[in-house]
Amino acid sequence: PQASLTINPRFTIGAVDRRLFGSFVEHLGRSVYDGIYEPGHETADEEGFRGDVLELVRELGVSTIRYPGGNFVSGFKWEDSVGPAADRPTRLDLAWHSTETNEVGLHEFSSWLRKAGSELMLAVNLGTRGVEEALDLLEYANVPSGSTLSDQRRANGLDEPLAVKMWCLGNEMDGPWQLGHRNADDYGKLASMTAKAMRQLDESIELVVCGSSNRTMPTFGAWEHTVLQHTYDDVDLISCHAYWAESQSDLESFLAAGHDMSLMIEEVVATADAVKAALKKTKQINISFDEWNVWDISRFENEDKISGVENWPLAPRLLEDSYTVVDAVVVGSLLISLLNHADRVSSASLAQLVNVIAPIMTEPGGVAWKQTTFFPFAVTSRLAGATALTPRLVSDTFETSTYGEVNLVDSAVTSDDAGTSVFLVNRSVTEATTVTIDIASLGDVAVTEAVAIHDEDIHAANTLASPDRVGLRHIETTIADGVLTITLPPVSWAALRVE
Ligand code: AHR
Repeated sequence: PQASLTINPRFTIGAVDRRLFGSFVEHLGRSVYDGIYEPGHETADEEGFRGDVLELVRELGVSTIRYPGGNFVSGFKWEDSVGPAADRPTRLDLAWHSTETNEVGLHEFSSWLRKAGSELMLAVNLGTRGVEEALDLLEYANVPSGSTLSDQRRANGLDEPLAVKMWCLGNEMDGPWQLGHRNADDYGKLASMTAKAMRQLDESIELVVCGSSNRTMPTFGAWEHTVLQHTYDDVDLISCHAYWAESQSDLESFLAAGHDMSLMIEEVVATADAVKAALKKTKQINISFDEWNVWDISRFENEDKISGVENWPLAPRLLEDSYTVVDAVVVGSLLISLLNHADRVSSASLAQLVNVIAPIMTEPGGVAWKQTTFFPFAVTSRLAGATALTPRLVSDTFETSTYGEVNLVDSAVTSDDAGTSVFLVNRSVTEATTVTIDIASLGDVAVTEAVAIHDEDIHAANTLASPDRVGLRHIETTIADGVLTITLPPVSWAALRVE
């Protein structure tokens, strides 16, 4: 099989927003407790944050981090998480049937973010709460001083406002599992009221309204249409969420997850633009793809789920998926899809960051290690340039049971002042695919970096017992007469830097 790609810096998709490389920390399982925070750990700092985890988070290169949920936020009282730690209440988290001590709250997390070099993206609770509580949190976070709640923040040790720019108006409100789940009309009205009120307090914020929890939701499309009819003037972005897993389809369809992500983006864009036309607006609504990843939800449903009125564990092992080589290849291909929609996707969050469906794992009192999915994310975040170019790609195709015929190879290209980056995926399960890349328009250049993820055993993973089993490999390239040639092994992802 083969594919050919033509790069020309004059054909651009748009600017790459750094917020495409965001992630997500939810109070769920061991994401916070025994994840980013473990006071007894030998690498813990004076605030109890694990130094080894912070180092890996920095290496991963995450921009914004969505917090504190997720399903968790729909039952969360933000006031519980501020003030003297010893006085904070212990609550039952209904979303994950766990105990929340509130030992780590808004101040601690924002301090951790500063150490990680990432920016806070906050979600408000529109499940069990509403306009008033959202306003209170915004006042507490963003007003410099001179009001009861802003002064309370200062008394709690934070003189400067948190100046949170991005706010999510609830989480997955289309999902029947969501605490306070509503239909599109009811949610749309509540989101509109909340957004208007929040903007009255701080007009500089960016607001994300809930779109669908995945493309297979029965209300997908209609939900976005109704919600945007209510909120078009009030919000900036609409969210997309989606997860894929090998166990949920066949291997070929799983490898085409990036194709599915592209369809979801294009369908939500079409819906937003249809509402724009019908309402005669000039403003454009873009997408915040603020939950995406590989996640075997069936494992959670069948094995992990906690129940019982007497049973509310503290930081249980939940959603601790172990990622394989093929999962990493799919994560790389999902990043390719995001880059190729840089004109309409302004923000995205890999869900999640530590221990919970995460690129980083920890053992209490022990090591922290990189899952296979760490590598494509870290490399793409590091190499992606400021501008996404239109990849003029012609590829052989293959048949999938879920999506029909799909390109065997997919690619994304970015450029910046120093050079060009190319990201490639070969979805063939059995065959190597040669890709010829016309780089004549780039002038006299050389390949300065060429790395890939592939393995004889596509189900190899990094585990506590063998944390370094899978890593990046160098991949051979040649350049002759303005054409760069690379042969991608079966089930592989690769990144090239050309300068
Ligand atoms: O990321 C795990 C969960 O997936 C989130 O809490 C929820 O928003 C989604 O269903």
